[in-house]
Amino acid sequence: MASVPVEIDDPKGARARAEVLRRELVDANRHYYVLDAPVISDAEYDAKLRELRDIEERYPELVSPDSPTCRVGAPVEGPFPAHRHDEPMLSLDNAFNENEVRDFDARVRKGLGLVDGDLPVEYTVEPKYDGVSASLVYVNERYAIGATRGDGTTGEDITAQLRAIRAVPLCLDAGDFPVPARIEIRGEVILPRSRFEEINEEQERDGLPRFANPRNATAGSLRQLDPAVTARRRLHLIGWGVGAVEGHVFSTHVEILESLKAWGVPVSRDLVLCEGIEPAIEAHHGLEKRRDDLPYEVDGVVIKVNDLALRDRLGRTARHPRWALAYKFAARQATTRVNDIIVQVGRTGILTPVAVLEPVSIGGVTVSRATLHTAGEIEAKDVRRGDTVFVQRAGDVIPAVVSVVREKRQGRPRKFRMPGKCPRCGGEVQQVGAYFYCLNTSCPDQLRGRILQLTSRQAFDITGLGTRKIDQLIEANLLEEVHDVFSLPDRQAELVALERWEEKSARKLAEEIEKAREVLFDRFLLALSIPGVGATVSRLLADRYGGLDDLAAAGEEELREIEGIGPELATSIVRFFGETHNRANIERMLAAGVRPIYRRKLSDELAGRTFVLTGTLESLTRDQAKEAIIDRGGRVASSMSKKTTYVVVGRDPGAKAARAEKLGVERLDEAAFRQLVGLA
Ligand code: IVH
Repeated sequence: MASVPVEIDDPKGARARAEVLRRELVDANRHYYVLDAPVISDAEYDAKLRELRDIEERYPELVSPDSPTCRVGAPVEGPFPAHRHDEPMLSLDNAFNENEVRDFDARVRKGLGLVDGDLPVEYTVEPKYDGVSASLVYVNERYAIGATRGDGTTGEDITAQLRAIRAVPLCLDAGDFPVPARIEIRGEVILPRSRFEEINEEQERDGLPRFANPRNATAGSLRQLDPAVTARRRLHLIGWGVGAVEGHVFSTHVEILESLKAWGVPVSRDLVLCEGIEPAIEAHHGLEKRRDDLPYEVDGVVIKVNDLALRDRLGRTARHPRWALAYKFAARQATTRVNDIIVQVGRTGILTPVAVLEPVSIGGVTVSRATLHTAGEIEAKDVRRGDTVFVQRAGDVIPAVVSVVREKRQGRPRKFRMPGKCPRCGGEVQQVGAYFYCLNTSCPDQLRGRILQLTSRQAFDITGLGTRKIDQLIEANLLEEVHDVFSLPDRQAELVALERWEEKSARKLAEEIEKAREVLFDRFLLALSIPGVGATVSRLLADRYGGLDDLAAAGEEELREIEGIGPELATSIVRFFGETHNRANIERMLAAGVRPIYRRKLSDELAGRTFVLTGTLESLTRDQAKEAIIDRGGRVASSMSKKTTYVVVGRDPGAKAARAEKLGVERLDEAAFRQLVGLA
């Protein structure tokens, strides 16, 4: 990181620093959303945003409406005002098979007066994102109005909500492609599937209903009166076209998308330019094969005539343009019968009701089980044994029961009830909010789930232990707790004595475990099965904490300062580290040679000490000061508490310095701080 001496005391210095920060934040967004190549971590982004906010608070005259600090405004009053689109937002004609697509090509060729032997039409093919369409009006490069599609003619004005999406540029970057004086950019607001899962977990924790799919979750997030809620959902935007444009004439669709990208609007990375319809059909098949690997829900491709002059000649029907077609993928929903409802025990003890289905093929995969999520969900959907249900499969998301076909219910099947005892181990069951838990931490199903989590690709990545082997080793008492995985290399003889094990497989597993012992801190955290802590939160925690002890000692208040960690999650993390058997398990893992790798830590000399920074330091930026502390094993908090060891006081300190004095916290000036961290 470049060292920028911050002169925020003098307004000129502050203005310069604010500009640098704004540029860095816009650039970080562009790298993340447009170029798909992040340059800084979330924690660094937040730190920069906080610094900019501090400057703008002191010098309000420096605030500009397109500053990254202005993304989240005050809650608006409902209902949302109507917004009439300058040009109608049409919908697309659909095709479900190759012949319908060839018919479309024939209509296009006929409309253009082309005959056999004439050149093929040039088409673009891009993913059809399954989200919520949005219209973004930019006037003189600045984001001005944001609206939903509505009925195509009139939508709802959700300017504040769309501004809260970091992928929406607040100002278009006029580089090589000049920005028209007024332009309406159209695109799809979408939610990554991984985020969708997390949001549903949050909904459940808050006792709210789950969203059926990412599109519903996106629509719900955009309909929030408080843009702060929209911001927390971390939606994404993909631009797919333009509406009314003043001051520029585009000639092709490719040019439109290239311009959007250059201006800072994310566009699809999967655009294909095709000579004629056959390559377009191939592109559809190619994308359908990769469908599960895409981070977003995609329900087909959109085939468009590339040349805009030809589009004009083709025109439109009442509802859709004649130059574009949605070529859908195979449906991901099917109806089938619920043969039984069983209850599974997860790694955190959560009891999940699961529908055992009459096997049904959905999008080429046979589905015989679907989650019913929680007792509350079963109640709301009123699913009963013997019912005919709609089942949905989306990407790598577990198949789920969407709804019951009530007309097909026969007789009066009994309502489902959660069991009073754990169906696996007979242990006590407790209800906490929407969830039922098995309280026996030695429950074999919980243990199996925790071991599967530990060995998963995103955690320790140990491939030699699948479900069957884990069950077998639990049965043979070779795995009684998670840490036992790391003793397996010393128990070769016992392994080989088991059925289906040979010396070679036992040795291979041992080698794999040996190699896995050194593991990045975030992977280590993910492996612990802390309730609510998935890959994203693990990374947030690893970014913030330089060591396991610091994290284990963190209080709820401190954890909640991390953007993305709410009160429920903070409680869950603190509770996890407070439980003796979890601590014992971690200690046994470490004793068995597991070594979490922390970020660039230089030493432990500041271990156990918590710093609060206030005011401006002369010789280093706040980020540099924080890094210096974390790299030496110390901790940085943004507010003062009894646990604060030092307050580092720069020029023009805030109220924190006074509070430190009251609490009797040791005060360090810049020179003393440099000396302490060894920078003097
Ligand atoms: S082009 C004239 N391209 O699909 C309409 N639409 O069913 C031009 N959609 O309302 C639409 N991905 O919300 C286009 N790559 C894409 C799209 C896309 C998703 C949505 C859009 C539209 C709906 C039409």
